[in-house]
Amino acid sequence: MFEYTSYKDVDLKGKKVLIRPDINSNIDVENNRIRESPRIHALIPALNELKDCAVVVMGHQSRPGKKDFTSFELHAEEIRKLLDRPVKYVDDIFGEKAVNAIKELKVGEVLVLDNVRKWETENKSFKDFSEAEKTEMIQTLAPLFDYIIADAFGAAHRAQPSIIGWPKMLAGPTIIKEFEVMSKILENPERPMTMLIGGAKAIDKYKAMKYNFENGKLDHALCSGLTAILIMEAIGIKTGEPNRKSIAKDLEKARDDIKATYEKFKDKIILPKDLVIEENGNRKVIGLDELEKYNAVTGDIGPETIKTFEEYIMNSKTIIANGPPGIFEKEVFREGTFKMAKVMARATQEKGALTVIGGGEMGTAAEMSGDADKVSFISTGGGAMLEILSGNEVPLVKALREKRP
Ligand code: 3PG
Repeated sequence: MFEYTSYKDVDLKGKKVLIRPDINSNIDVENNRIRESPRIHALIPALNELKDCAVVVMGHQSRPGKKDFTSFELHAEEIRKLLDRPVKYVDDIFGEKAVNAIKELKVGEVLVLDNVRKWETENKSFKDFSEAEKTEMIQTLAPLFDYIIADAFGAAHRAQPSIIGWPKMLAGPTIIKEFEVMSKILENPERPMTMLIGGAKAIDKYKAMKYNFENGKLDHALCSGLTAILIMEAIGIKTGEPNRKSIAKDLEKARDDIKATYEKFKDKIILPKDLVIEENGNRKVIGLDELEKYNAVTGDIGPETIKTFEEYIMNSKTIIANGPPGIFEKEVFREGTFKMAKVMARATQEKGALTVIGGGEMGTAAEMSGDADKVSFISTGGGAMLEILSGNEVPLVKALREKRP
């Protein structure tokens, strides 16, 4: 299903390599720090596999214009804390400073480059891989390395130069593990299979859910976050203006499709029974019939919903979570998300279920709740994982197949 040349298939000893992971992380902007980052934690064993090389790390953080669009100094600092060999940082991507630092880098050292999305062209999508190969960054950097190791599973659905533009590419340690888990889920998932869907990017999650219902693989979708809002609005449950605003564009485009999908699979699509708003700094549980009256952002699932979701999860053999059910960064909205991470850990330990948590956000939540190492697998992919599970060949999968050294 996934065809690639592994980093293990070549002799890397003494070589200069560039690794392109996805360490896009949840940033606590006010305090200028990275919250628990499963993606950085996944990079450490990958870097340890490359300890006999001179390793350059290239990655992205957020998107231009967003509050968490930071430099990569924070990421370098975090890697430095966790790795027991020298980690350098240069505030440059492929200019003179970066090129000199790369040339001077010695075996056993790690050099982190700045946020690659500071280079404008990186934010464009290149359907034609050869066009990406001609860009200035690739032309400048590719000749400086013996090998390029593609490890950005989380950004595998982005046809950006740093992801697909290198003339030759090896698959790295993180992405190979991810491919193994994805193959298991795609080929022969143990049933019942349940998806726990939350967070933002509602339409992508809806599409992945629909695809898996259509092909008969998915038994239940536990919907929360904006995906639940999107479906509820489409079927006529009014959720209040602040919620509606967040999904308005998707709703306009897909209302009829969502309605039809809901009609077809309504026994399998499990919507919230109650939700939570913030009132004077406290949790206030409200019913679906009260959403319009309170007209407020719902930041979490309520106790009835939590109980229902827990039952489905404990009765499933494969559980894939993507996106947190609540805005867990705020204490008042944390309960639902942490309880879902805990019940996934229980399903793994007590029922032997295969439990996969995907996406930077839900992974961070599981680390914060102390359950990350109790589930089967924390995937570094959110949107990328969903696209792959939707049966699409994402750009990086295609590039790894076509650009084998
Ligand atoms: C992610 O967090 O989903 C990946 O890092 C990709 O980020 P993007 O959606 O900004 O391209």
